[in-house]
Amino acid sequence: MKALVIEKFGGTEVMEWKEISKPMPQAGEIQIQVEYAGVNPVDWKIREGLVKHMFPCHFPLILGWDAAGTVSAIGEGVEGVTVGDRMMAYCKKKVVQWGSFAEYVCMEAQHCCLIPSKLNTAQAAAIPLVALTAWQALFDFAKVKAGDQVLIHAGAGGVGVFAVQLAKWAGATVYSTASSQNHAFVENLGADEVIDYNFVDVGEKIKERAPGGLDFVFDCAGGTAHAQAYDILKPGGALVSIVEPIKKELALEKELRACCLVVRPNGEQLQKVLDLIESGKIQAAPIEEIPIDQIVKAFDQSKKGHTKGKIVLKIT
Ligand SMILES: NC(=O)c1ccc[n+]([C@@H]2O[C@H](COP(=O)([O-])OP(=O)(O)OC[C@H]3O[C@@H](n4cnc5c(N)ncnc54)[C@H](OP(=O)(O)O)[C@@H]3O)[C@@H](O)[C@H]2O)c1
Repeated sequence: MKALVIEKFGGTEVMEWKEISKPMPQAGEIQIQVEYAGVNPVDWKIREGLVKHMFPCHFPLILGWDAAGTVSAIGEGVEGVTVGDRMMAYCKKKVVQWGSFAEYVCMEAQHCCLIPSKLNTAQAAAIPLVALTAWQALFDFAKVKAGDQVLIHAGAGGVGVFAVQLAKWAGATVYSTASSQNHAFVENLGADEVIDYNFVDVGEKIKERAPGGLDFVFDCAGGTAHAQAYDILKPGGALVSIVEPIKKELALEKELRACCLVVRPNGEQLQKVLDLIESGKIQAAPIEEIPIDQIVKAFDQSKKGHTKGKIVLKIT
């Protein structure tokens, strides 16, 4: 098969679309013929070796963690899946090696979901990693519930699109941050107020709006967004960062529940998100489709940090 392979960490020059052996499904796994693969910032972070302390990497390494396509082979012991089914998955494994920027990828069947009829394959590829991140931050850790006041940073980005919608669906009052050109978009996702972090002191604005403190801050941006979080949460409030380590002493001093989350595959949670999409309660992210032979463009765009929704690669 053809795949986007790196033999060492580095810039875009280390990537090569080349022939490599096809992964075959182990017991409990399915093999997906990948039509579209979602691009996440972690993909270029892995390529550059920026997260090698977090994720063990083996070379030759195929980049990519999100996949959508058609089931092409089924491993021993997998039930309820047929060759030809349209499926999607967050394909992270213990070791980073066999990714989704490839004609074929294998993943544990329990973490794969059928693509709902409402979605095309490109839209499906944009969902798994970011939707699971939002779900695990909001519901596994923060336990967001009706009446909570929450701040979701980077509401127009991949994770933010789902976090804003899921928080609203749960009944929270949702504040979010975005550049002004994305305000209407994030409001349309359900945010009650969107703050332009480029020109407004977000911490001060939140203190005006919620003088008693917030229940939850979701830090998808880092830097000032992270630093201010400790001052705008109420005691007992929850802080989840997906970009920066928690300042543990400060969290303790402010009586916060805080964690730096690393998203895990979870087929049941992904199915819950897909059910919400299918029933019209939330919507899929807008996508920009880029062919795999323009992977450099896709990564350059992602690195700029202003993706609206998601970038997906057309693989086959
Ligand atoms: N730990 C984990 O498990 C995990 C999981 C998923 C993602 N992540 C990380 O979380 C971050 C977000 O992921 P993503 O997929 O949502 O990225 P993304 O789609 O690239 O996010 C782009 C968005 O970030 C916004 N943004 C940029 N700088 C900002 C700032 N200072 N304050 C507020 N918003 C800002 C931009 O908004 P405007 O264009 O409106 O300015 C843009 O819409 C990335 O660093 C990613 O690697 C970690």
